[in-house]
Amino acid sequence: MAWTIAALSNEVTAAAPYGVTVGTREIALFRDADGVCRAVEDRCAHRRAPLSPGKVTPDGLLECPYHGWRYEGEGGACKAIPNLSQAERVPGHYRIEAYPCVERAGFIWIGDAADDDLPLPGDAALDEFADGMGREGGGLIAYPANRFREALLNAPSAVLVVAQHQIIDNHRLGEPDVGSAHVDVAYAVDLRRRINPDKPALASADFPYALEIRSVGPLDRVVLRGPDGIVAAILLAAVPVADGLCRLVWRARQGRVEIPDLILRDSLDAGALFAASKAAALVRLPSFEKGEAERIPA
Ligand code: FES
Repeated sequence: MAWTIAALSNEVTAAAPYGVTVGTREIALFRDADGVCRAVEDRCAHRRAPLSPGKVTPDGLLECPYHGWRYEGEGGACKAIPNLSQAERVPGHYRIEAYPCVERAGFIWIGDAADDDLPLPGDAALDEFADGMGREGGGLIAYPANRFREALLNAPSAVLVVAQHQIIDNHRLGEPDVGSAHVDVAYAVDLRRRINPDKPALASADFPYALEIRSVGPLDRVVLRGPDGIVAAILLAAVPVADGLCRLVWRARQGRVEIPDLILRDSLDAGALFAASKAAALVRLPSFEKGEAERIPA
């Protein structure tokens, strides 16, 4: 299994555990006594109570809120049970699942507990891209994670808003570059006041701004580039939470050009998305059929 994004680094503090859902897994994230982020299943080995409402002890163990069993985060072993006598020891098989967990580019990444040889996520280019990102946020949207990513590649105006500007979904710049591990695609961006559907189409050279999207692993890198360089850069992950629901977490920085407010839509217009995706028909076409589109939550 590949690495997946679970949260922003800043969401996991020393103050308390942080519960997240990633696909079918419920995970408790917490920082141990050294500040290292740990990821364990969010279920106690005693009576399966959720651990994330519990607390982190001064020695960096995750304590269940019900009867106080305590777990270390690296291997998930139970290290303490309050009602044992001094002569008793915690049986070695009392443990919970612990997941590989690293922090890269300001995000918490988790891997598969069963895979010891999982290569580290990300690359040098990712670290460089994330350098200086100071704005970040997240939120739930009523849309499947994979569909969100397809929309970002196929019809980015359905999921991104650039103040004063319009992303032109049907004016792709060049051919998409589709590799085994990445997709690169770029779109024209124009000032809103110039957009006029009755005017003849402008040539690519008429658009001084471009939106470049690079999808690698669980992260999407988005750059708004103007004639004088990068206007804004965003790292964005859509984390699947439940059927038809995902959680977006993003980090952003502005370039040296004055930034327009680049924001993510917090809800999606299913009708517009359907129409735009059909028109774009580019890289990975969403498999929208007519009846299916009507069931997509707005
Ligand atoms: S349910 Fe966790 S200690 Fe009992």
